[in-house]
Amino acid sequence: MNYYIITGTSKGIGKALAEELLKEDNNYVVGVCRNSTITHKNYRHQPLDFSDIPAVEHNLQKVFLPYNDAEKLVLINNAGVLGDIGYVGEAMPNERFEFVFDVNVIVPAMLMNTFLQVYQQHPAQKLIVNISSGAGKYPIDGWASYCASKAALDMLSMTVQKEQDMRGSGVKVFALAPGIVDTQMQENIRQADVERFSTVDKFRDYKETNALAQPEEVAAKIIQFMHNADKYNDVVVDVRNM
Ligand SMILES: NC(=O)c1ccc[n+]([C@@H]2O[C@H](COP(=O)([O-])OP(=O)(O)OC[C@H]3O[C@@H](n4cnc5c(N)ncnc54)[C@H](OP(=O)(O)O)[C@@H]3O)[C@@H](O)[C@H]2O)c1
Repeated sequence: MNYYIITGTSKGIGKALAEELLKEDNNYVVGVCRNSTITHKNYRHQPLDFSDIPAVEHNLQKVFLPYNDAEKLVLINNAGVLGDIGYVGEAMPNERFEFVFDVNVIVPAMLMNTFLQVYQQHPAQKLIVNISSGAGKYPIDGWASYCASKAALDMLSMTVQKEQDMRGSGVKVFALAPGIVDTQMQENIRQADVERFSTVDKFRDYKETNALAQPEEVAAKIIQFMHNADKYNDVVVDVRNM
């Protein structure tokens, strides 16, 4: 059996990924986020709110069960939030930085840490895919905490891959940007005020001109990528270049 532990399976890219993987009988998916929207014999949901760090810490062992029959163990850190759109220093509540970093960086780091620790002796092939963003590579006004969190996720991925290489573990780690995808996150982006995010019209145009990728096609590309993960040497990758 191949075990996929995927965060954020209730909607968007994570849900499409889980549903595509569940088409194969030898795949099992453990979904982790607040809401459960998938019913399938090979799906188990672990409810967790990533903005509640003590609760995440308390429930980690429920996510990473022994899975003794696993041939493949995959962690996909997909759950993510954009946070409040607006300029730093202009009515941005301080606690929102913590919220975005908890969901986008701290919990993915905790999950990677626990995954690598718990399965260190497990003979299965191991893979970690962190869903990052182009927004971690250049600044976008109004998105400071999101851009910074995705840059942090890229560096976390590169550092962990370096460590795994130095240990000779064979574990592969990626920070994968999915492109611009037609999900709830994009819907929220389009509703922003131009005064707080100067390029909002560009994102409204993406929708109007059908330039957004569908979650199902992105999920299929990510699954194809995971099948060929050994062929990729760069940690930071973009679905649009595959
Ligand atoms: N859509 C794009 O254009 C785009 C572009 C670049 C990168 N990305 C990245 O792709 C990933 C998926 O995005 P998406 O567009 O599919 O977003 P989405 O449709 O908004 O879905 C986000 C997922 O994250 C989960 N989540 C949010 N807050 C959470 C919390 N506090 N605790 C646990 N889980 C939480 C949600 O589950 P619950 O609400 O049930 O908890 C949901 O399943 C994100 O990391 C995002 O940054 C997206």
